[in-house]
Amino acid sequence: MALITLRQLLDHAGENGYGMPAFNITNLETMQAVMEAADRTNSPVLLQASRTARKYMGDRFLQGMFMAAVQTYPHLPVCMHLDHGNELGTCMEAMDLGFTSVMMDGSLEADAKTPSDYDYNVAETSSVVEVAHARGISVEGELGVLGSLETGTGEKEDGHGFEGMLERNRLLTDPDEAYDFVAATKVDALAVACGTSHGAYKFSRRPNGDILAMDVIEKINEKLPDTHLVMHGASTVPQYLQDLINENGGDIPQTFGVPLEEVQRGIKSGVRKVNIDTDIRMALSGSMREFLLKNRSSFDIRAILKPGRQRVVELCIERNELFGCAGMADRIKPLSLSQMADRYAAGILRPRAA
Ligand code: G3H
Ligand code: 13P
Ligand code: ZN
Repeated sequence: MALITLRQLLDHAGENGYGMPAFNITNLETMQAVMEAADRTNSPVLLQASRTARKYMGDRFLQGMFMAAVQTYPHLPVCMHLDHGNELGTCMEAMDLGFTSVMMDGSLEADAKTPSDYDYNVAETSSVVEVAHARGISVEGELGVLGSLETGTGEKEDGHGFEGMLERNRLLTDPDEAYDFVAATKVDALAVACGTSHGAYKFSRRPNGDILAMDVIEKINEKLPDTHLVMHGASTVPQYLQDLINENGGDIPQTFGVPLEEVQRGIKSGVRKVNIDTDIRMALSGSMREFLLKNRSSFDIRAILKPGRQRVVELCIERNELFGCAGMADRIKPLSLSQMADRYAAGILRPRAA
């Protein structure tokens, strides 16, 4: 079995200057599509499941699907990552299920709505790191609160995001604080706030530096050149998918995502993990709408889901190629969790701010 940790995967990405798309998995079809795209491009795989996705699928079904993915494609290194863990208990459940990486999102309190303070974030994240590293499992932390620089609010379209309004400085990760946070918590990867948010409604216009602060990422990278940075809310929300939905009975107001060139610019400045969920949802649901409108008498759910699964394959292939991870799978020899635990214990995998 070719399970791999986030730390080993992102170390390889860092050494070779590429980015890893982290695809959110919601059901069988999204999982199959991501794996087929990886197989066709010889890419390592970074699968992530949110708490909501875990609840929707059920932990045992999710675990079975992960294992099936690894067994079907034994030649591909696969990282299983928990997206937006909210407290130690949630992260430990995921570790017990076989996840090789967890995110402890301490930028918000355990209710995932209230912005936390720095000390809370350090304490919660450090407690997860201590448990995880002893088991060889990687940890992603988050500093700065994800939200819109246009409105000062958090996006709650997908149930994530803070309530109320925040000042611009809380919505941007401070590079000095980032340095201290990585040194104090020993996280393997750091999610940063730079104006992106979850869901389709990220920007009301094509973003410039005022509302998508790529310069913040560049400054953090100058301070922490060896730290693997993570971009959340990195879907591009492409026009062709907005059109596909709207031309087939949907009603999505015009919106803008993160342009692919900006993601590629981030990859040049230390972004190693690029989170993508919304684009997958749009590709799958838009294709279902199209099929159902064209085939009004059909109720064959396999036929309804198939074109969307294919569109997700194409989208993931494009991301794998543009982020540079295509062709990398067979260049990685995954280390086991116990080998990783030994490396942490021996101090070989030092915090990236040391
Ligand atoms: O973190 C945000 C992802 O898009 C997951 O969203 O909780 O609706 O699965 P979700
Ligand atoms: P998108 O909503 O932009 O796809 O972001 C997903 C994400 O950040 C998951 O953690
Ligand atoms: Zn996220």
